[in-house]
Amino acid sequence: MKRRALVAGNWKMNGSRDSNASLVHDIVFEIKRFPDIDVLVCPPAPYLDATGRQLEGSAIQLGGQNLSEQEKPGAFTGEIHGGMLRDVGCAYVIVGHSERRALYGESDRLVADKFSAALTSGLIPILCIGETLQEREQGQTEAVLARQMKAVLDGSGIQAFKQAVVAYEPVWAIGTGKTATPEQAQDAHAFIRGQLAAADAKIANSTRILYGGSVKAENAESLFNCPDVDGGLIGGASLKAGEFVAICAAAQ
Ligand code: G3P
Repeated sequence: MKRRALVAGNWKMNGSRDSNASLVHDIVFEIKRFPDIDVLVCPPAPYLDATGRQLEGSAIQLGGQNLSEQEKPGAFTGEIHGGMLRDVGCAYVIVGHSERRALYGESDRLVADKFSAALTSGLIPILCIGETLQEREQGQTEAVLARQMKAVLDGSGIQAFKQAVVAYEPVWAIGTGKTATPEQAQDAHAFIRGQLAAADAKIANSTRILYGGSVKAENAESLFNCPDVDGGLIGGASLKAGEFVAICAAAQ
């Protein structure tokens, strides 16, 4: 029995008040055609409040792209507490995206702390994991995925995954146009689900594992048809209404 699909748009550091309003306007109407999937958009933080207000009354949910690992608000200049994301209507938050790991030095431990902080704030973390091209070419893919999963399981335990989503995002497929083949995606997703099943088979079976990395309208269906792929975490294609709607249609 497949899990209810989730298609999440990660807008990354893109957009403006006007372009966001236009994009949301264009997708809100279309998404009504897909009542059997969950759809989420993750704008940059300054736009969360306005986008959340625009989404009111629609089935599209709101998510953040990052959060502080601090359990409580306070003197942490520039940081965003999970409670603030909730306050502006976020239900989800992306945690440990490869760009944050690579460009901003987020360690497995910091990602695990952010995952925990998200749960403490009542957010559903979307835990991003994935290997680099070098790691894949060296046959290290499963070792990397296992290491990244272990850090979070050690920090929060398997029960935490009742309220969490995992996104497998091979770094070599992000923004490159080099999408993983359905076989590569399925192999990685099955391995990730196996890591969860080693702790609790029921939770493993219910946890949604998204694929991210150059998902487009033309490749989405073949990816989403894989038994352990439960939707997608979409970057560039989520900024184009027609493409994002077509990807949602493929997940329906
Ligand atoms: O978080 C999703 C993102 O990393 C994938 O980006 O542009 O390859 O769809 P893109």
